[in-house]
Amino acid sequence: MDIDFLKSQLEDHDQSQLLWYWESLDKDSQEKLYNELKHLEFSNINGYFKQAMEDLKHASDKIDNLLQPLPTEVCGSVTGSSPEELKEYNRIGLEEVGNNRVAVLLLAGGQGTRLGVPYPKGMYNVGLPSKKTLYQLQAERLLKLERLAKQQTGKHCTIPWYIMTSEHTKQATDDYFKQHNYFGLEKENIILFEQGLLPCIGFDGKIILANKDKVALAPDGNGGLYRALRKWNILEDMEKRGVTNIHVYCVDNILVKMADPVFIGFCRTKKAECGAKAVEKTVPTEAVGVVCKVEGHYQVVEYSEITVETAELRRDNGQLTFNAGNICNHYFTLDFLKHVSQVEQENQLKHHVAKKKIPFVGDDQQIVKPTEPNGIKMEKFVFDVFHFAKNFAVWEVLREDEFAPLKNADTAAKDTPTTCREALLSLHHRYMLDAGSKFIHSDGSSLSDIPCAKKAKESGDCQKSENDDQFNKCEVSPLVSYAGEGLEDLLSGKKLVPPVQIVMGPSDITPSIIQNVTANGTTN
Ligand code: UD1
Repeated sequence: MDIDFLKSQLEDHDQSQLLWYWESLDKDSQEKLYNELKHLEFSNINGYFKQAMEDLKHASDKIDNLLQPLPTEVCGSVTGSSPEELKEYNRIGLEEVGNNRVAVLLLAGGQGTRLGVPYPKGMYNVGLPSKKTLYQLQAERLLKLERLAKQQTGKHCTIPWYIMTSEHTKQATDDYFKQHNYFGLEKENIILFEQGLLPCIGFDGKIILANKDKVALAPDGNGGLYRALRKWNILEDMEKRGVTNIHVYCVDNILVKMADPVFIGFCRTKKAECGAKAVEKTVPTEAVGVVCKVEGHYQVVEYSEITVETAELRRDNGQLTFNAGNICNHYFTLDFLKHVSQVEQENQLKHHVAKKKIPFVGDDQQIVKPTEPNGIKMEKFVFDVFHFAKNFAVWEVLREDEFAPLKNADTAAKDTPTTCREALLSLHHRYMLDAGSKFIHSDGSSLSDIPCAKKAKESGDCQKSENDDQFNKCEVSPLVSYAGEGLEDLLSGKKLVPPVQIVMGPSDITPSIIQNVTANGTTN
């Protein structure tokens, strides 16, 4: 340890407070702190801080005048495409998957503070009948898609799964996959890598100590991806495997279509180097970013960056002018990722600044949890590279089919374990109806295909048994069906007593139906 050199470096950058407790630390703690500090690039960090404070001054500025709607030629949608077109996109996507040219890349380095669990969000079980976690659902969708692609191309294929973790999520994610034997995927096709961290800084420009021997560090945002891709040579690994299309997504959407062949097929048809999936915004004030153009470049603009008047603008057909709600599902070609991950481009991505309550060591050397924001966190955003895209594509999907994110604990009204569970079970209920099954009560009388609305239940307008929570508990294992396909043989004309689970087994290729399962897993 060259502590004198470190001291002079800190003095030069006005960060000497980081060694205030040095003398009171034992040897191990000194070493720990020293190792943390020696990796920090103080000159850059001070520069980021200066820029961040400048940006904060303009945080309430609006950019309405710079906003342009998306050109229609880059847009497509599930509802606006014919069944033939959708089939063709799907075919193209499956062809890419079948030829080992598709990878998925998961952004899983977030701390999930809003959900409030001490483990990575992907390990969360929202209470499905199968008790599957987000990670298990995602793994099984990959397995199924590989099989579907094999059916089309006749070739055995692999979809490598790259998972970006952070200091907070890496070990637990690694252990979790090991414990579950990678959910049937090959270990070497799940590639974990770690994003970088940035220190949290007080409003006075001083880096905050979370503990006497620990700097307050936070992941550098999901746009930290590009630096991490460089650091861990991920793009070289993709190239070696022959990957040319990458589906990037965030961990919390329970309905995520992994490596969605339709999305990939659409982006390829548009010859896009970069693409985004979107859902139509429900109301002008919905707090999601919108995909649009700003001064000629593609961008995601936060709701807070525009006025309500602009958010409320409508086209002749009544749709919102800026209606493409970002769902954090992106398509990139490998060439595009290589370009934007170069230092020159990556350095142009600005840090977004958030004021936060950051715990720190107080004068009495105890940890203080502030009640008001006392500093900032700086993050890059994954979609800021849209700016560099010349050929872009936006694919609008149906919210009820593809978007139900897990953001909050059940105490919130929106984006909770309950709303996620209901979204998935309701989608699977539709899959089963579409495949030709009917639902009945255990006495044989028929159940309505449409679940009772909450109001009707409260007013007693529904038959008692249809109020039953079990009504909607229909779950289809992703190992049986990726997106509702292939269920007819099993379900057509079948009368089923919910709750129903469609599972894979007894053999690896034969699905079966489990009906009327009680909460403790037994069949009535
Ligand atoms: C994100 C999108 C937002 C979109 C919404 C839809 C970004 C910056 N914002 O918002 O436009 O409307 O999803 O659900 O993409 N993550 C990391 N490292 C980090 C921080 C986050 O990997 O340092 C990952 C998270 O684990 C998660 C994803 O990025 O998988 C999204 O992060 P989150 O903080 O949940 O973004 P939102 O604010 O919900």
